Amino acid sequence: MSAQHDQIGAKVADWDVLPVRSKYIEGYTFFNALGSVNEKNVLDVACGDGLYTRQLKARGATSVTGVDISEEMIRNARQQEADQPLGIEYHVSDVADMPLLGSFDVVTAIYLLPYAHSPEHMLRMCRNIHAHLKPGGSFVTYAFNPDFSAKGPNSTRYGITMVDFPESPRDGHEISAVLHTEVPLTIQFFLWSRATHEQVLRDAGFQSITWTRPECSPTGLAKYGQAFWQDYLDNPHAMALRCTR
Ligand SMILES: C[S@@+](CC[C@H](N)C(=O)[O-])C[C@H]1O[C@@H](n2cnc3c(N)ncnc32)[C@H](O)[C@@H]1O
Repeated sequence: MSAQHDQIGAKVADWDVLPVRSKYIEGYTFFNALGSVNEKNVLDVACGDGLYTRQLKARGATSVTGVDISEEMIRNARQQEADQPLGIEYHVSDVADMPLLGSFDVVTAIYLLPYAHSPEHMLRMCRNIHAHLKPGGSFVTYAFNPDFSAKGPNSTRYGITMVDFPESPRDGHEISAVLHTEVPLTIQFFLWSRATHEQVLRDAGFQSITWTRPECSPTGLAKYGQAFWQDYLDNPHAMALRCTR
């Protein structure tokens, strides 16, 4: 899984500009589910090139640490930190094997769990995330929507197309998706059911597990109108997931 993101990182992906990404849907939904990070210590895992890691710092977190399995992604993140220092530390590691980096109020992960290749791998990730949280701390993530339907509208005009999505996917089905960046990118990940996510999170010690459907930001509504977003909101490709230690 690191190799595909090393290639994406090397292309300096312009994936933040996709309508579904941080400005209109994903960032808006994610930060609403997260709540305030003011004066909190945050660990952002699967941080990629630091798109959200930097936003967490800008939103008032006391400290932010980013972790990603891809050396190329972390190289990009560190380059941006060198260009515009925010005091963010970055580490290369598989979240499943990450060494203890501290004790955090919040752990965030915008797309990590779909890259678990088995429930056991997801459990090792979630146990390690749990170990990095203070008692009462929160894990807030953005995960592939377990209820995404092949019969519903695809998300192409929002920037991402699921390729050959099965009508009745089995748990752990490998999915391909095309991101409609300037140079289109194909990514592979795994589809896990709601039950698998929740069982793994409970086995890792988490409680109060809640899913939040995506919403469109006021900026997105003003720019494109509600009708534009309706297909996406009816069959979103991802959802926010929040739980506590
Ligand atoms: C779709 S990208 C999202 C990056 C960033 N969170 C964002 O939203 O821009 C998913 C990231 O997960 C990372 N990743 C996948 N599996 C991982 C693992 N086991 N441990 C750490 N990072 C992982 C990839 O290298 C990639 O950077």
